[in-house]
Amino acid sequence: MEISRNPIWTLFLKSLVRALIGQENQRLYDTVDWRQACDRFQQADLIYPTYYSHQNFHGIEGGYLTSVAAVTYDAITALACPPSETWIRQQLINAIQGQPKRILDLGCGTGSTTLMLKQSLPAALVMGLDLSPYMLTMAEHKAQQVGLPIQWRHGLAEATGLEEGSFDLVTLSMVLHETPPSIAQLILAESFRLLQPGGQIIVLDGSQKILRHTDWLIKLFREPYSKVYAAESVDAWLTFAQFEAVHTRYIGWIHQISQGFKPDTP
Ligand SMILES: C[S@@+](CC[C@H](N)C(=O)[O-])C[C@H]1O[C@@H](n2cnc3c(N)ncnc32)[C@H](O)[C@@H]1O
Repeated sequence: MEISRNPIWTLFLKSLVRALIGQENQRLYDTVDWRQACDRFQQADLIYPTYYSHQNFHGIEGGYLTSVAAVTYDAITALACPPSETWIRQQLINAIQGQPKRILDLGCGTGSTTLMLKQSLPAALVMGLDLSPYMLTMAEHKAQQVGLPIQWRHGLAEATGLEEGSFDLVTLSMVLHETPPSIAQLILAESFRLLQPGGQIIVLDGSQKILRHTDWLIKLFREPYSKVYAAESVDAWLTFAQFEAVHTRYIGWIHQISQGFKPDTP
């Protein structure tokens, strides 16, 4: 597995991730025909934006457009979610108001939050959308393992091509710190468009308050956009996107959850 030449990676994280990814993921990495698997998701007309395709996320050459990213992501994320990844994700689930019936998880990655959404609201139609067919391959594999029917879709979170007003809950779990702020704002505008009036958005991500003062953490996890993300405010972005009843609360050690609603009447 190719992980970029950085002393921290080489000496610590690389071996730790290798140890943590487990035999099942190592087997997947070795045995899956990744080209064929990705072709099933790949939208032929999609052009990858350079902010995405030209970045090495988490120090991985080629970023999310690689099988290495797909098989190592869960192990890296477990390290980045103190005190416990499941507890952090559960706070997003607990923040849901009412019983949404159509849920879209934008930037779903390997589907960890998407699976929890479907588990907690089994009657809902749940869709996970991501720009990486590799991550979607992993997400689909995880959903099949536990028998959860989830729709997986390849696409841009800022221009999904999905119908206006077709969801009553949009979630963004650890996505906005992975994009330039201008794209994060486009993603929130697209979320607003996709929600029906009265629909809700829940954004789980790194705490901007904490990340402003922990440059070492951003460097450790090799995050290209986290510094500019931390300098901004998800609250302000949500308000700018016209969401109402916007508020952010801090959870765990380094995370925050932001919420808002699309106004009931235009
Ligand atoms: C840090 S991962 C988060 C994955 C997942 N939501 C989770 O909670 O673990 C960020 C994900 O966002 C996806 N992503 C980044 N920019 C995107 C965009 N513009 N459109 C769709 N997905 C995007 C990446 O491919 C990656 O899978």
